[in-house]
Amino acid sequence: MGEPHSQQHHDVIVVGSGAAGLTAALALADKLKVLVLAKGSLTGGSTAWAQGGIAAVLDAGDTFENHIRDTMVAGAGLNRIETVEHVIGRAPHAIDRLASLGVPFNTEQGALHLTREGGHSHRRIVHVDDATGWAVQSALLKAAHDNPNVTLLPGRAAIDLITGKHETKYSGSGRVWGVYALDEESGEVEAHTARATVLATGGAGRVYQFSTAPRGATGDGIAMAWRAGARVANMEMMQFHPTCLYNLEVKNFLITEAVRGEGGQLKHPQTGERFMARYDGRLELAPRDVVARAIDDQIKRHGLDYVHLDISHQPADFVRAHFPTINEKLLTLGIDMTREPIPVVPAQHYTCGGVMIDLDGRTDLPGLYAVGECTESGLHGANRLASNSLLECFVFGEAAAADILRCWDEFDAPPPVLAWDSSRVEDSDEEAVVIKQNWTEIRRFMWNYVGIVRTTKRLERAQHRIRLLEEEITEYYRHFRVGTDLIELRNLLASADLIVRSALKRRESRGLHFTLDYPETLPVAKDTVLVPR
Ligand code: FAD
Ligand code: SIN
Repeated sequence: MGEPHSQQHHDVIVVGSGAAGLTAALALADKLKVLVLAKGSLTGGSTAWAQGGIAAVLDAGDTFENHIRDTMVAGAGLNRIETVEHVIGRAPHAIDRLASLGVPFNTEQGALHLTREGGHSHRRIVHVDDATGWAVQSALLKAAHDNPNVTLLPGRAAIDLITGKHETKYSGSGRVWGVYALDEESGEVEAHTARATVLATGGAGRVYQFSTAPRGATGDGIAMAWRAGARVANMEMMQFHPTCLYNLEVKNFLITEAVRGEGGQLKHPQTGERFMARYDGRLELAPRDVVARAIDDQIKRHGLDYVHLDISHQPADFVRAHFPTINEKLLTLGIDMTREPIPVVPAQHYTCGGVMIDLDGRTDLPGLYAVGECTESGLHGANRLASNSLLECFVFGEAAAADILRCWDEFDAPPPVLAWDSSRVEDSDEEAVVIKQNWTEIRRFMWNYVGIVRTTKRLERAQHRIRLLEEEITEYYRHFRVGTDLIELRNLLASADLIVRSALKRRESRGLHFTLDYPETLPVAKDTVLVPR
């Protein structure tokens, strides 16, 4: 770090412009000036890609108790009941709010159309065709653009949190004062300070070779909070979606769970056997961990590249009307889902663990909040129930904003902080090749050693690789100018480390964490909490 310099000061900084970040920003902007930073474009997070929808109890025949029970069953009892009740009780309000922002949810006979997904005992997923995320992202972004108290700043990759140790008069506290962020165009590193900072940076899915998550899902917020001293929990609970399109060119296209909700069947591609009957009485609508493991088992047992997802028995008009986006995409690849099955494989989909927060979105560090997929709020436990994630973003985005507004007078103004020091680093002409090599290596060993089925030996092998790469990447980070790729690589490795350490700590199989060395589930569910040294 270098000399004090002119820092850019804001009331509140939100890092991330997905569902969680924009919800927080809009709720704060009633009273405060908010800066929203985003790596790359404003639509680069997972939110824009969400397909199935948002879970909420809206049908007269459904109850909060049902939704709570389904969430706890999917989460294998690791969920925190107070969080589950908190979120599910607020779901109808979240849907009303989105509708008031102009999200054009599908309706049928004057009521919201509710679709069904795995693990849900009732129809309760509100949606906008099969592209709910894009509709939500667009409505939130429009509201943010229209709000004079929100400044949207894309092309800024946050590098690290500014904490007490960056104060020019070092206080030694873990107080968070904002972020250092790279201007991705100019290459300059800016210091943005605020009284409160909200991390809304999404998940770490890209730590795996196959993932439905967009390229920027590199666990940046989780890694930043960890480095700053916040606890992280349940990182071993990485969710694999059962049905990602198998295609040699298009590697991360999701086939929504709603296809199974509307009757889609999983079949052996050669024999046509509907194999889920062998694994679970709930068939294709068992929770995701169960279905993903069943597909993985079929693939390994029979040496397959993929299995089939078949909805061609439904009327073609029904399929086209319910899944217009998927149908169109598949047609460009020569697959007509109204007449033939879709080849699918499981792929990483969601990060259930993350930065530990309370019901107000507070982390361990004063001045730092976290919301959305980068957190461990207690909602998802050992396995997220489908369509509970966007819901979590809306509820915690509002909760964090409400807490910041409530406590505003207690937050001090930031002190002068140190400038980012680039005087001792140089450009590297090796950067592209080193980063690509390390990135590929991490994603491969995470897929092979830390995937759907684990063993202690495989986890230890992964940990060994992480230690070797840590030295190399730290060295690289110290000596060369930061770019987004290097920032992401550093965070990807930190995320891999947190996942493997958590997986090694859990000596049982529960939900998404399945290990051949400890196949039993222990009687008492306990979080895996990692505490920074
Ligand atoms: P994101 O939407 O991922 O946004 C993260 C933001 O942080 C982005 O703006 C990104 O640019 C920014 N960011 C990241 N790192 C940095 C950094 N270093 N500096 C600055 N900015 C940074 N959930 C459901 O409930 N229903 C669904 O139907 C559904 N479908 C899904 C389909 C797909 C294909 C995927 C991948 C996920 C789906 N999910 C679904 C999960 C859900 O979409 C995500 O969990 C949710 O959108 C996460 O929102 P978020 O705001 O936390 O993060
Ligand atoms: C899907 O549409 O299958 C994804 C839903 C989710 O991730 O919750």
